[in-house]
Amino acid sequence: MVHSSETTAGIKPNQYDEHAEQFAAHMESQPYNVLYERPATRELVGDVAGLDVLDVACGAGALLEDLTASGARVVGSDASQPMLDMARQRLGPDTPLHLQDCSAPFPWAHDASFDLVVMALAYHYLNDHASFLREMHRVLRSDGSFVISTHHPTDDLRRLGGSYFDTELNTDIWGTGDPVVSWRMPLTVMTEQFRDAGFLIERIVEPRPLPEMATSNPDVFNKLEHCPAFILFRLIKSPKS
Ligand SMILES: C[S@@+](CC[C@H](N)C(=O)[O-])C[C@H]1O[C@@H](n2cnc3c(N)ncnc32)[C@H](O)[C@@H]1O
Repeated sequence: MVHSSETTAGIKPNQYDEHAEQFAAHMESQPYNVLYERPATRELVGDVAGLDVLDVACGAGALLEDLTASGARVVGSDASQPMLDMARQRLGPDTPLHLQDCSAPFPWAHDASFDLVVMALAYHYLNDHASFLREMHRVLRSDGSFVISTHHPTDDLRRLGGSYFDTELNTDIWGTGDPVVSWRMPLTVMTEQFRDAGFLIERIVEPRPLPEMATSNPDVFNKLEHCPAFILFRLIKSPKS
């Protein structure tokens, strides 16, 4: 990936539209996804049999498919129609899928209607984290959980330089050649966003790559064993909220 810092007014929620198929194929073949983030997120999500699960920014639906096969009743949403079209092809007609910018209200989602919300690799794209977290707090049941995976700020520091404490927009040029804009922010900013919205952190995971990556992609393996690329949180609703 190539990087540059910029100060645009915000991030287009549908920035995945134009090259959605390449992005989806990229995520389904990259060791960062297949042998690293996805297994770690799946493990943190745990047993979902019988649960009502909302996958926000679900992309082409790989996790939705897994959760459905594991016995969850799933609903997906994403801000990119082409990504949702791929999820629809994968999941068939029965899974509810919504075109939804996570920074906007979720009018179709009822209060306290989900046991679990998952957001894999999209928190760094939001323009309004406070609104998003407020909505997820609203739609979760009182004993519900919220699993988030996102860029690890120490990896942002390694890749982008500058200060660990910077909160700013950056543009990555993906292996597909396409620019993708995301936020970098320190852990203090993220965790205070969670706290301000009424969440407590139940677990933090700094994933390690699956052992098979050592032979399939030794360079990536060595990099990830040195510095985590992603960080995962399992949040619960604070009893005080
Ligand atoms: C890296 S992909 C991850 C997709 C999926 N969660 C996965 O792990 O395979 C990021 C996804 O976030 C979606 N996205 C980006 N900004 C968004 C926003 N503001 N609201 C909703 N979805 C967004 C993109 O369309 C894309 O499908």
